[in-house]
Parts: sequence; structure tokens; C-alpha cells
Amino acid sequence: MPVKNRFAELLPEITAWRRDFHENPELLYEVHRTAARVAELCRDFGCDEVVEGIGRTGVVAVIRGKTDTAGRVVGLRADMDALPIIEATGLPYASKTPGKMHACGHDGHTAMLLGAAKYLAETRNFDGTVVCIFQPAEEGGGGGKAMVEDGLMERWNIAEVYGMHNQPGLPVGQFQIRPGPLMAAADQFEIKVTGKGGHAAKPHLSIDPMVISAQIILGLQTISSRIVDPLKQIVVSVCAISGDSPAHNVIPEVITMRGTVRTFDKDVRALAEEKLTAIATGIAATYGAVATVVYDRGYPATVNAAENTVHAVEVARAIAGAAGVNDDVAPQMGAEDFSYMLEERPGAYIFVGNGDTAGVHHPAYNFDDDAIPFGASWYAGMAEARMPAA
Ligand code: NI
Repeated sequence: MPVKNRFAELLPEITAWRRDFHENPELLYEVHRTAARVAELCRDFGCDEVVEGIGRTGVVAVIRGKTDTAGRVVGLRADMDALPIIEATGLPYASKTPGKMHACGHDGHTAMLLGAAKYLAETRNFDGTVVCIFQPAEEGGGGGKAMVEDGLMERWNIAEVYGMHNQPGLPVGQFQIRPGPLMAAADQFEIKVTGKGGHAAKPHLSIDPMVISAQIILGLQTISSRIVDPLKQIVVSVCAISGDSPAHNVIPEVITMRGTVRTFDKDVRALAEEKLTAIATGIAATYGAVATVVYDRGYPATVNAAENTVHAVEVARAIAGAAGVNDDVAPQMGAEDFSYMLEERPGAYIFVGNGDTAGVHHPAYNFDDDAIPFGASWYAGMAEARMPAA
């Protein structure tokens, strides 16, 4: 594939951008330096339009092909933000800001999309328009949603969108994808059980929120085991429990629990929310306590459109060969806010191998620069394959 040869040539330059981003990590929407650098580079490449401040600190770079006979527009998306983690890689280009680290490889995603933008602006060997989307705040801030709400899809008339994530444990040069749900919807909840505090030796004079909470925790597990269709996936996890008891012999008045619900299916998600609330309030009421439930919907499930997944697989196979692409990988229970873009437009999200590194969000994680030609080739290849030159 010719794209790959060009990216082998561009590798030192793209690697330098990547390591500069790695040294200077920024969180959530505060990606000011990164976004400014992205915009500067895209202008240097000769992109036809570069717009900053979409979705607060997102950047959009537009590249028009040699021709535009059909008016097609393909969006390619990367994320730019880092994590509040103390880096422990010992790399010469490790984070210069203690407590901030590119521990999810978004520095690599941004650099790969910049590489694709440079190549596409050089060659313009397609019939239509490429919109490169650099988003802030993937790590819990909903930056993808913010860009969508800022009119991203309508303003540039984007017809389909493609995104990617590096995958530790998958050999460099390989890809994984599947049609349908690939990443889960991630919701969070807080349940506050208010009983009646008192002496631990006289429980009959109290309403013990601790015992009630224990029953609620077990009761919530029946959502997955007895309420949801066993052929559909769901995780309900209570991850934190805190009380206000000052001593070992005092029954507390209030217990607060926090946790997360992960689902792939919209109906399962709605059912889980309804039943979680019903179980918590019902069990509490049985014992004369009161449970209040706050259920916050987070990122929706990341759902690959069937047809676009086929296109994504074809491009990946052209780069990695048939054996290098798993087109039926198991879905993951993690979440991803590219999901908001896939709710607006058909498209696909693919994993690109990062080799045998520490997992994402680990202090020893590192993006493997050898993955750059593969990821950049896939981005550029998607544009060329979906809008073949006239
Ligand atoms: Ni990530």
C-alpha cells in the first residue's frame, strides 16, 4: 500500500510531534497548548480550513480532494487529552508536568491523525472532503459530545466518521474491530440509605443502614442474573461504600454507595436504571429506611455500523494483510466518547496494535511509535477508500 511507504518516511517527524505532546500532557478541555500546536501544524500542511474552539478546545482541519464531484465528506477523529496520573516510565520524553500523563496514548492518536492530514494535504488523491477532528476531554469530559453539540456534523456536512484507539497486548501492525457494539455505555450511580443511628448493642432501636445496604448490594446483582436477558451483557458494580459511624459500636445514620453500570443495548440500559432504583428504594422501604438514588448516564455504547465496519476492515487488511485483522473481536466493557459521534453519523472505531506494553491508564504505559505508520495509514486509507479519486 503506497500510503505506508510515505508514512515510513514521515515516521521521524510524526514521532517528534508525538513525543512533544507526551512531554506536555494536558487534561480534559485544558488542551490549549496541544490544540494550538495541532492547528499550527495543520495550517503548515496547507489544510484548506482550520478552525479552533469547536467543543471548547477541539480543532477541525478540512482538506479538499483534487476533485469533488459527489460532495462526499468523511470525518476522521483523534483525541488529544491526557490523564491525572504520575508517570513512571522513566522515558527521556516523559511528562514534564508531575501528575499529568499521556497514559492512554491519545498523544499517539493525535500524531497519527496529523500524519494522515499531512499526507492527505500533499496528495489530495480523493474525490471529496476530509474533515480531521481533534477532540478534547475524552477521559470523562464528554469532549466528543461537546463537539457534536457545537454543530460539528452539520457545519461540515460530515457523512461518516472513523476513529481508532491503540491496544496494548495486540501486536504492532495488527487491527481488531467488530460490527455492532464494541465499547459499553458507562453510567454511574449513587445510592444514599438513610436509617436511624444508635447503639450497636441495641439494634432494635435503630434502623441500620449498613445491613440494608448489604442487602441492596446483593439485590443489585439480580439485575444481571435475574432481570436482564442472560444473552445480553451487563455489569453492575458497587465500588465504594461509606458511612458516618464514628466508632465500632455505633450504628450509623447514613450509608452512601457508589458504582457503575455498563451495558451495550439501549433497552438493557433503561431497564437497569429502572430496576436499580426500584431495588434500592424497595429494600430500604421494607425496613423503614429511605434510599435516594442518583443515576447519571455517561457515555453511550460505541456502536460500529455494519457497512462502515466492512470498509474499515478492507482498509486495515490492505495494510496488515488478512491475518493481521480480527474483524470479530469481543466487545469491551470500557467506554469511549467517540460513541457520541457514532450516534450522529454511521462509522466505525478500530483498535490498532500497541505491542507488549503496560495497559492504558497505567503509570508505566507507553505508546509504541512503531504503530504510527499503521494507524496513520488506516486514517488516510479510510479517506481514500471511501472517496476514490474521480
Ligand atoms: Ni483512551
